[in-house]
Amino acid sequence: MAEQAGVSLGTVSNVLNRPDTVSDNTRLRVLTVIERLGYVRQESARQLRAGRSRIIALLVLDMANPFFVEMARGAQQAARAAGLAVMVCNSAADPAEEADYLAMFAEQQVRGVLVTPTDGAGGNLQAIRRRGIPCVFADRAQPSAEACSVSVDDVAGGQLAVRHLLAEGHRRVVYLSGPAHLAQSRDRHAGALTAFAEAGLSHDRLTVIAAARFDVTAGRDAAALLLGLADRPTAVFCANDLLALGVLQALYAAGVRVPEEMAIVGYDDIDFASAAAVPLTSVRQPAQRIGRTAAELLIAETGEAAATHEHQRIVYQPELVVRASSLTTHGRR
Ligand code: RIB
Repeated sequence: MAEQAGVSLGTVSNVLNRPDTVSDNTRLRVLTVIERLGYVRQESARQLRAGRSRIIALLVLDMANPFFVEMARGAQQAARAAGLAVMVCNSAADPAEEADYLAMFAEQQVRGVLVTPTDGAGGNLQAIRRRGIPCVFADRAQPSAEACSVSVDDVAGGQLAVRHLLAEGHRRVVYLSGPAHLAQSRDRHAGALTAFAEAGLSHDRLTVIAAARFDVTAGRDAAALLLGLADRPTAVFCANDLLALGVLQALYAAGVRVPEEMAIVGYDDIDFASAAAVPLTSVRQPAQRIGRTAAELLIAETGEAAATHEHQRIVYQPELVVRASSLTTHGRR
């Protein structure tokens, strides 16, 4: 190509990467040859040579969960503003799948990784950090100063949910947890217990049912256990909205009135929560803001100011959004 344009390889590279350093006449001559040869720049090869990918990897627990869709949307907004793009992958909350994706990200030399870890420790992340790939924890606090993290105070979220149910007069509540290996399940449970303790009520008034997954089907399956409880509680706090929507659907099918016979509170406040047949009370997380902030931190850590970057641990506060699924005209004992 350079020979056909009568210039050096360096001039061709300048036309492609630093066009402002080349005269109009030379640039036109090289571009004419490029078009005639149908040359397409290998961006990934160029990036690898430059040591600077324009791809951020986002690894979420469940791509089917609207919470993570909103989180990805926020990350995309920040990436686009910086001329970058986000590649979204799904770990399905499986540590083995998480490890495979993290190894692939390292091989591809992505600019950095945003990840909601599949377990509390984020154990798989040590390997990718050793390969020099910056990671930011999204939707999980990172206790050490090893990485940036953006999360929501899930203990406070569990407290908000159960304080509300206690204020509505409920004294026996089910906590429908997600998989126990996820910190989200544990922290929301801890918040529920704290709400009972601060009301001077015994923890044995909180019955725990652990769902197999954080999805609608697991919510429907768990509702069968809930309905089978002796001396059935009058309210259920679900660890996320997908579980809550599954419970709502199963209770409707069983002829159990919500909230009159069973009040329901969810978590995330996804769009479907307000659109449910009985609008769902939910603990709102700022999903888009989590994704946007996490991406901004990663872009800062890998940008011009990387040398002076200091890791940040950002924790947002949840907000209770009360709707029909938990509002009773009077409490129950
Ligand atoms: O993935 C399970 C849950 O964890 C989501 O619904 C959201 O609450 C996240 O924090």
